[in-house]
This record gives sequence, structure tokens and C-alpha cells, in this order.
Amino acid sequence: MHNYFQYLETLFSMEIIEIENRSIQFGSFEITDVDKLSYYLNNLSNESKGRFGPHAFTCEAISELYKDANNYKLFTAKTIDEDDVIAYTIIKLGWLHFEIPRLSSYGLKEEPFDCTLAPSVADAWQGCGIGTRFLSYLIKTLKTEYQLKRIFLWGGVQSDNTKAVNLYKKFGFAPLGYFEYHGWNVDMLLNL
Ligand SMILES: CC(C)(COP(=O)(O)OP(=O)(O)OC[C@H]1O[C@@H](n2cnc3c(N)ncnc32)[C@H](O)[C@@H]1OP(=O)(O)O)[C@@H](O)C(=O)NCCC(=O)NCCS
Repeated sequence: MHNYFQYLETLFSMEIIEIENRSIQFGSFEITDVDKLSYYLNNLSNESKGRFGPHAFTCEAISELYKDANNYKLFTAKTIDEDDVIAYTIIKLGWLHFEIPRLSSYGLKEEPFDCTLAPSVADAWQGCGIGTRFLSYLIKTLKTEYQLKRIFLWGGVQSDNTKAVNLYKKFGFAPLGYFEYHGWNVDMLLNL
């Protein structure tokens, strides 16, 4: 039954766009794609891996997160022709446990309509507008299908990650504060 509902969720939240003359499908991650997603993650460049590492990149780790649907929502962008994963985002519903003290220090408290986001795009596709279109799709989906009102960043964003910082600013994410963890990072929040 649980899987049936996840299947329905997949059907409802799908969107197809054209970019660089290619058809790309955004949608909920399907467990049948677990090998493809693991392959995508393991093949990110070292630079991208240094900026995006919310969880282990094994099939087992992905399957565990997928099964924990009350806490996590996984989304992919796939090419229609090859059915390859070219972008991935994990959403934690609410705040991450280890981020509660830091986010609370900004005078905020966790609300039932909060979520935490970690996006990534395959190196070969970065800078082509996929991140923008994917984030726009995610914002719409999180707002309309999950009734969420605030998006936080998973581990903030590294201050020198210009592409990501520019992407978030473009959507209206506002800085909450800076913290040091392997260099400077900034927490940002988008009110939907
Ligand atoms: C961050 C990331 C998700 C952005 O996705 P993307 O597909 O590359 O982004 P887009 O092509 O849609 O560009 C989005 C914005 O980023 C900025 N940008 C794009 N390329 C850039 C570059 N080379 N230098 C600086 N800013 C750049 C621009 O402001 C752009 O918007 P604009 O074209 O309207 O001006 C992607 O680059 C990525 O996966 N990086 C590695 C992992 C990562 O950093 N994840 C985020 C962790 S917080």
C-alpha cells in the first residue's frame, strides 16, 4: 500500500521541459532508478562532491531514505531519450537534527511547514539552466503538493560556491547567518 501511494505521488508530480534541445523529465525518484541514481552520484566530480554530500551514495543508503517517506522526499531530473539521471535533490521534511542549535541561534523555531533542501546537477549539465528549472519545479511542488512554507539549505551553502549562492539569491533565498565548517558557509531561507 505504501508503495502504491508513492507510485501515485510519482505520477502527479511529474513535469517535462525542453533544454538545449533535449527533453528532461522532473519527478519523484522511483526506486527502480536506484542504480542510475547511485551511478550519477558516484560520477559527480570531486569539486561537486565537495559541495554536495548529504548522504552516502550507495544503493542501500538511497533505498533507506526512499523508504523513510515520512521524513525524506527524493526528486530527479532525467533525460527522456537515454533515461539518465542528470540532477538530483533530496528534501528533508522539517530540520535536520544536527542543525537545530545553529538554526535556533537565528531566533527561529522549527515549524511543521519547514523543509531542508540539497540540490545537485551533473557536472556536464551545470550552467545550462537545469538548476534553475529544477528548483522552480521543486518550489512549486513543495508549495502546492506538500503545503510547505519555508525552505532551508541542507548544511547551508559554502560561501565560495558562487553558482549555488547565485541560484538561491535568484529565487529570493535570504541569508540568515554565517558559520565555519571546513571554510565559511551561509545559512539561507526562502519563505514561500
Ligand atoms: C549549484 C547547482 C545546483 C546549480 O545548478 P546549475 O544547473 O549549474 O545552475 P543554472 O545553470 O540554472 O544557473 C543558476 C544561476 O547560477 C549562476 N551561475 C551559473 N553558472 C555560473 C558560473 N559559472 N559562475 C557563477 N554563477 C553562475 C547564475 O546566476 C545562474 O542564473 P542566471 O543564468 O539566470 O544568471 C549546480 O551547479 C551544482 O550541482 N553544483 C555542485 C553541487 C552543489 O553545489 N550543490 C549545492 C549545494 S548547497
